[in-house]
Amino acid sequence: MIVLANDHAGLDLKKEIAGLLDDMNLPYIDLGVNSRESVGYPPLAWKAAGTVRSGECDRGMLFCGTGVGMCLAANKVRGIRCVVCTDCYTAKLSRLHNDTNMLALGGRVVGPDLAKMIVRIWLETPFEGGRHAKRVDMIMGIEEGREPGV
Ligand code: RB5
Repeated sequence: MIVLANDHAGLDLKKEIAGLLDDMNLPYIDLGVNSRESVGYPPLAWKAAGTVRSGECDRGMLFCGTGVGMCLAANKVRGIRCVVCTDCYTAKLSRLHNDTNMLALGGRVVGPDLAKMIVRIWLETPFEGGRHAKRVDMIMGIEEGREPGV
């Protein structure tokens, strides 16, 4: 299951990506908002990240003006590794090397076609594991107050 959430600035892009997920026959839950009225992004990012943290959802996608605010807020939730992407290379490597479980996109930055390419790549690329697993574990250890080793 995939979770989607957006603020007013991410609404149009969220709709585009929801359409892509429909085409791909991938199930998702949409936490909104579905209005253009200005709304703060942190509660939306927090709620979506919570469903990934709990295991209710495997992955999440967040949409705001730049993707940055949503990404920052989501990464404050334990267990979340969220990336802002404006290119396909970062989308791919963030899965291969960083095992990202959330993707943030900026509705004022990336157009719908590029966003769809990014999303497809991000969804379809597996985590490489191996030496990268150790590094991801170090990142997650920081949440537990552990100093990362080398
Ligand atoms: C809203 O104007 C804007 O600040 C928000 O969508 C997002 O870009 C924040 O990072």
